[in-house]
Amino acid sequence: MNLVEIKKQAIQEINGVKSAVDLEKLRIKYLGRKGELTSVLRSLKDLSEKERKKAGKEANELKKEIEAVISGRKSEILEKELKTKERKIDVTVPGIKVLQGHLHPLTLISRKIEETFQSMGFKILEGPDIETEYYNFDALNIPKDHPARDAWDTFWLKTKNQKLLLRTHTSPMQIRFMEKNNPPFRIVVPGRCFRYEATDAFHSHTFYHLEGLMVDTNINIANFKAVIGEFLRKIFGRETEIRIKPSYFPFVEPGFEVDMRRPSGEWLEIMGAGMVHPNVFKAVGYVPSDWQGFAFGVGIDRIAMLKYKINDIRLLFSGDLKFLNQF
Ligand code: PHE
Repeated sequence: MNLVEIKKQAIQEINGVKSAVDLEKLRIKYLGRKGELTSVLRSLKDLSEKERKKAGKEANELKKEIEAVISGRKSEILEKELKTKERKIDVTVPGIKVLQGHLHPLTLISRKIEETFQSMGFKILEGPDIETEYYNFDALNIPKDHPARDAWDTFWLKTKNQKLLLRTHTSPMQIRFMEKNNPPFRIVVPGRCFRYEATDAFHSHTFYHLEGLMVDTNINIANFKAVIGEFLRKIFGRETEIRIKPSYFPFVEPGFEVDMRRPSGEWLEIMGAGMVHPNVFKAVGYVPSDWQGFAFGVGIDRIAMLKYKINDIRLLFSGDLKFLNQF
C-alpha cells in the first residue's frame, strides 16, 4: 500500500471501530512495529536521498495524523462506554478496614487527672514552655547564686538580651497566675517540662507535670492531704498506698514529697509539694501574713506509668505503634 491508500483505509477503519480493544488492534496494525506505516518507513532506505526526504516527511506526517485520529476515537469510545456500561459492584468483596486513631496514653491520663481536679473546683490553665529566668527561678525564691538551682539542670536558650530557658517545672505558672489574680482560688496547670539530664527508665529530658495551687486565708496541710488523697483514689482506686515525707523546695515551707507504692512493692516519687513560701507571696505583691496555700507538682508521666503499668518512661515518647496501640 502506498501512503494515500494507507491513510484512506486507516481512517475509515478507525472510525468504524466500536471498542477500545479493537481500536488498539488497529493501532498495532498501522503503527505497530510490524505495521503498515512502519513498513513504509522502513522501505525508505531503498530510495534516493531526495525521494527519501520527501517520502519520509509525508510518512511522518501521516503517522501523526493517524495517532490523532486514534486518540480522538478513543475518547469517544470511552465516553460512550462510561455512559452505557452498567456499574457492577461485587458485594462479596471483603471491605477495607479503616484504621481508627486513638488518644496517646499521656493525653488519656492528663484528661482523667484534669477531670478529678475539676470535680474539686480547680480551674485548668496552661503556660508557656519557654520561660524567663525570673519566673522559673527568681520569683520562686531561687535567687541566682542559690545552690538549689543545681537541682534543675536547665536548658538555656541562646538569646541576646534576655536570659530565656525551657521551663524546668510548671511552678512559674504559680507566679504568672498570682500576679494577675487575687485569692481565694484553686488552679491546676498541666504542661511540658524540660531538664538537661541523662535519660533512664524513670527520667526523660522532656516530661509532663501538673502544677497545683490553692490559696485562701486558712489553707493547711490537712487540706492538701485531703485533695491529693481524693485525686489519687479517683485515679487508682480506694486501696492506693501513698506516703508523705519531708523534702525541700525553695518556694515552699514546709516542703514534702509524695510517694506511691508500685505493684512491685517499691515506692515511686510522684510529686513535690508544700505550703507556699511567704517570699513567693511577696514576689507577686500579696501580703504574706494574709494568705496561706499549698502547691504541688505531679509527674503526669509517672502517674501514667503507674496506672497503665508501663515500666519505662521512654516508651511514652517512642512513637512505637506496638506500644501505643494497646491504649
Ligand atoms: N516544681 C517542683 C519540681 O520541679 C515540684 C513542686 C511544685 C514542689 C510545687 C513544691 C511545690 O519538682
